[in-house]
Amino acid sequence: MKMLEKIDADLDAMRAAGQFKQLQNLLSPMGPTARLEGAGEVVLLCSNDYLGLANDPEVVAAGEQAVRKWGAGTGSVRFICGSFDYHRTLEKKLAQLSATEAATTYVSCWNANEAILPTLMAIGGDQVAVVSDELNHASIIDAVRLGRQINKQSESAVYPHANLAELESKLKAFAAKPFKVVVTDGVFSMEGSLAPLDRIHAICKQHGALLVVDDSHGVGVVGQTGRGTAEHFGLHGKIDVMTGTLGKTLGGAAGGYVAGPKNLIDLMIQKSRPQLFSNALPPAGAAVAEKSVDILMRDPSRVQRLRDNVKMMRSGLKERGFETVEGPSAITPIILGPTAKAIAASKRLLELGVFVIGFGYPVVPEGKARLRVQLSAAHKPEHIQRALEAFAKL
Ligand SMILES: Cc1ncc(COP(=O)(O)O)c(C=O)c1O
Repeated sequence: MKMLEKIDADLDAMRAAGQFKQLQNLLSPMGPTARLEGAGEVVLLCSNDYLGLANDPEVVAAGEQAVRKWGAGTGSVRFICGSFDYHRTLEKKLAQLSATEAATTYVSCWNANEAILPTLMAIGGDQVAVVSDELNHASIIDAVRLGRQINKQSESAVYPHANLAELESKLKAFAAKPFKVVVTDGVFSMEGSLAPLDRIHAICKQHGALLVVDDSHGVGVVGQTGRGTAEHFGLHGKIDVMTGTLGKTLGGAAGGYVAGPKNLIDLMIQKSRPQLFSNALPPAGAAVAEKSVDILMRDPSRVQRLRDNVKMMRSGLKERGFETVEGPSAITPIILGPTAKAIAASKRLLELGVFVIGFGYPVVPEGKARLRVQLSAAHKPEHIQRALEAFAKL
C-alpha cells in the first residue's frame, strides 16, 4: 500500500534527522523523581504536575472513592444519559476558582478549546472574527481553523507574539464586525512568558471584543494565591472566558473546562460538539481534579514552595552558565538551537539521572529547539541540587 510506504519513508527521515521521539516507559507514579525503564530513578523536570498533586495521598484517595461510588463512567454523552452529581460539584468549584458565573467540563482542554472557539464562530455568520496570538497552543490554532471550516463566512487573524500594536490593528480591520473574539494563552508553554493580559484586556474593552484566555499553565502557579494569570494582573474575575486543563496542576489526570458567563456556558452545553458527541469526564478524573481544586484553594503555601523551587533552579542554572529568563511562571526554557542538539542534550541528561525534555520543530520554530525545565512544589532542595550537578556536566 502506497500510504504505508510513505509513512515508513517519513519515519525514516525523522530518524535520520535525529528528530524521532522515543517515548519513555514510566515504572512509578509522577513525583519529584520517577522510575524509568532503562534509566532507573531520575529527577523529574518535565511534568506539568506543578503542585505535586498527581500522587498526593488525598487526591489518590478521592479518585479511588469516586470509582467505588460511581463506577467507571456513564457509558454515554451527557445530553443522552445526564450528568453525575460530581460533574456539577466540580464545575461549581472550577467557576469559583476562575471567578466566573459558571463552568462546564470536557475530557481535555484540547476539547474545551475546540468547543468554545468553533461554537462562538458558528453562531456569528459573517459578523464574527477571531484574533489569536501566533504562539497560542496548538489546540487554539486548530480550533480556529475548525471554526473557519464550520462557518466559512467567519474570519480570523493572527498577531505576532504579544505584539499589541498588531493586535489592535487586526481589531481595527474587523471594526465592522460586531462579534469579535481575542484568544490568548495566559502562560505560553514553550516560552514560560505571560501574555500581557492587563493591556490585552484594555484593548478588548476598547474594541468591544470578547476575551478568551487559556490558562492551562497559569492556574496553580501564577498569581498570589495561584488563581492564575488573571490574578497576577489584578484581573481575577474580569476575564470574559477562561479555559484550562485538569491534566496539569489540577491533579495531572485528564480533562478540561470552559468557565465564563452563565449564558455562554449554557450555549456550550447546548451546542459544543466535543460535549454533545463525546463522553463526560469519568468519575476518577473528576474527583482528583475536584480534590486538587480544594487543596489549591485552601493551601496556597504549595504555590509559594513551587516559586521557591523555581527560583533556586534558575539561579543555579545561571551560576552554571545557562541563560534563563526571569518571570512568574514555572517554565524555564534553555534555548539550544537545532532540534537534534536539544534531543541529544535531553538524552545526555537522562544518562546523568535527570528527565528533562528537548523540544524541537514543529513544536517550536526551526532553529529554536530547547530544553524545557519544569519544577514542582514536591521537589526538595536535594532534587534540585542533583539536577544542577547534571546540568553542570552537560
Ligand atoms: C495552553 C494549553 N492549552 C491546552 C492544552 C491541552 O490540554 P489537555 O492535555 O487537557 O488537552 C495544553 C497542554 O499541553 C496547553 O499547554
